[in-house]
Amino acid sequence: MIEIVAGPHIADGEGGLLAVPVFADRTWGPGAEWAAGELGEWVEGHFDSVDFTGKSGQVAVVPGGSLAYSQVAFVGLGDEVDSEGLRQAAGTLAKLATMVESVATTLHQVDIDDAAEAVASGFLLGQYRFDKYRSEPKPSAVERFVLLDAGDVELEAARHGSIVARGVTLARDLVNEPPVSKPPVEMARIAADLAEGVRVEVFDEERIAEERLGGLMGVAAGATNPARLVQFWYEPEQPKAFLALVGKGIVFDSGGLSLKTPAGMETMKTDMSGAAAVYGAVQAIAELGLPVSVLGITPLTENMPGGSAQRPGDVLTARNGKTIEVLNTDAEGRLVLADGLALAAEQEPDLIIDVATLTGACMVALGPKIGGLFSNDDESAELVLAAGKRAGERLWRMPLPDDYRKHIDSDVADMKNTGIRWGGAINAAMLLKEFVADRPWVHLDIAGPARASDAEHYVVKGGTGFGVRTLVAVAEALAAG
Ligand code: BES
Ligand code: MN
Ligand code: ZN
Repeated sequence: MIEIVAGPHIADGEGGLLAVPVFADRTWGPGAEWAAGELGEWVEGHFDSVDFTGKSGQVAVVPGGSLAYSQVAFVGLGDEVDSEGLRQAAGTLAKLATMVESVATTLHQVDIDDAAEAVASGFLLGQYRFDKYRSEPKPSAVERFVLLDAGDVELEAARHGSIVARGVTLARDLVNEPPVSKPPVEMARIAADLAEGVRVEVFDEERIAEERLGGLMGVAAGATNPARLVQFWYEPEQPKAFLALVGKGIVFDSGGLSLKTPAGMETMKTDMSGAAAVYGAVQAIAELGLPVSVLGITPLTENMPGGSAQRPGDVLTARNGKTIEVLNTDAEGRLVLADGLALAAEQEPDLIIDVATLTGACMVALGPKIGGLFSNDDESAELVLAAGKRAGERLWRMPLPDDYRKHIDSDVADMKNTGIRWGGAINAAMLLKEFVADRPWVHLDIAGPARASDAEHYVVKGGTGFGVRTLVAVAEALAAG
């Protein structure tokens, strides 16, 4: 893990790389004028020749010359930067700073709220790699990220950013893990030592049956690897609120008997990203010691087409007694979430949030980078939207119109697990709503943003850990009262 430390004034520091911010039209940010001045006049000419103007996303790296830093990176921030812009700039920097042991920066001195937190989290996330299955891993050389002239307040903010980044990293690692290496039993084992102060309870297949988790049992029926349901309890003294987090944990989604195409299966190890987000968020919330009680629930199973698999036409009885006709075994996420949400609602939390790679339809609606948000409560929807905004995760509210309920009417049961062809993300959310009783509830469909097809700023290709930062920001909002 990279160490984040406070450093001296820029003129007294040293090391492999110095990174300073530059705004649009080459307006110097903190430290940049000093660095450019020390380097000499050639720097401006060099910027002209490579067309470096300070636009966001641009970085110009030059040799450090007579400076005590081997190289200097001028990091473009554009016209107006917010904390997410700064996080992205730090991520871009992290991707090119992999050959030096120490990176020193003044990026956190940019005058916006949460600057040090954004810089720390962006840098750590940008350094992320998933190398454990390579025979020749090429780890980054960076050992230290030095915040020049940082005081206690900034160091504390950076510590906060690194705790959140660690939660995101855990989620990314779990998502990137091959499906054969993360069966439910292994996922439950990982849950056991998530963080100090978190109590973990694991339901095995017997307990799952005893607790009447019919949705989870139905999906798990075709799999040889047994299902698990993990419950996390984080109970600080004097909590300000009680938050329940439910994450879809399909460790591999083949579609079941309603089998996916080979191409459709390629990324389906990602289908436990909701559970991964809950793991990461619970870990971060506990490490931050936020005064909010959290119940995390992750139903974990494969969705496989074995000889004992559930069939289209089967009817399941979920935890709350409601029945679901399974017409498409590939619409399995809503089945396991039905039980998870019902379990959560029984505990009467102030707010339930579920996170799930639920529908391809949500990707059709919002594209690959924006999550769909559904809620039965306007105030909760606003709270989570605002948290997402602060955290730098994009969410867009989608409707839950009452007159669409009939689209999931079944001929034989209380509802069916498919809807009409249109509005597939809404159909799925309409079903989930049946399992939250009277609790304020927010559903995040992260089918798109859970996975990145390309690297960009602090995002690397593969699992993104999407959702962790929003969930932590929600807990912070609830903690603030
Ligand atoms: N896990 C998928 C949703 C998904 C698809 C996530 C692509 C990420 C990328 C989910 O279980 C699923 O298969 N949903 C079906 C529902 C349909 C059968 C009603 C879908 O979206 O096609
Ligand atoms: Mn599916
Ligand atoms: Zn799925």
